[in-house]
Amino acid sequence: MVRTEILPKIRIIYESGEPERTIEFEGSGPFHHDGEPGSILDILLGHGVHLEHACGGKCACTTCHVIVREGEENLSPSTEKEEDELDNAPGLTMHSRLGCQAIVKGDITIVIPKYTINQVSGSH
Ligand code: FES
Repeated sequence: MVRTEILPKIRIIYESGEPERTIEFEGSGPFHHDGEPGSILDILLGHGVHLEHACGGKCACTTCHVIVREGEENLSPSTEKEEDELDNAPGLTMHSRLGCQAIVKGDITIVIPKYTINQVSGSH
């Protein structure tokens, strides 16, 4: 039998000008071993798309910072800990999330900022 189910999609736009990508995923993860199962980070890494994650997806850096352009309602609400950590992200916006914490429940479009704190500070 042919399955006609429509899979949720993540469209990834790079501020750096790299070509954008779209991935489809099925299920709720875990797809990889970093970040919350089913989070943006987990899905991207599990589908071969790189996203910085200096703390290993533990909500303790901001290198997985992404900006949600569409589909914010399809993400889990952010926690206080995520908000506190995000305050340190360079280029913070009203639509910023930590990729390792935001769990994806439907179609979203995200922008990967050009700079993460690792690159800005030159440390690491
Ligand atoms: S990977 Fe460090 S906060 Fe997400």
